[in-house]
Amino acid sequence: MPQVEVKIGAKEHQFECGEGENLLFEAISRNIMIPFNCTSGRCGRCRIRVVEGAENLSELVDREVLRLGEEQVEQGFRLSCQTYIHGDVRLEVPQPRFY
Ligand code: FES
Repeated sequence: MPQVEVKIGAKEHQFECGEGENLLFEAISRNIMIPFNCTSGRCGRCRIRVVEGAENLSELVDREVLRLGEEQVEQGFRLSCQTYIHGDVRLEVPQPRFY
């Protein structure tokens, strides 16, 4: 079963999930609070950055490229609501900036 590591600020979370499960729903069902709103790839709030294992995630979809832009896509960002897990992966949730 795929192993998922998610870093949010200083906290690291780990969980195991079924092959092909949705990243956002798997995380929030374990109280790993990735911010989200629409769950349909429109708001961009569920943004995460893939640190390792990008090849173990579903293919990037057009909706992600439109919402994130090419620069963030190149930096490894994905929309977790549009991403499905097929193997081990390490992720981080970007922290909001208050300045
Ligand atoms: S929750 Fe809105 S884009 Fe994922």
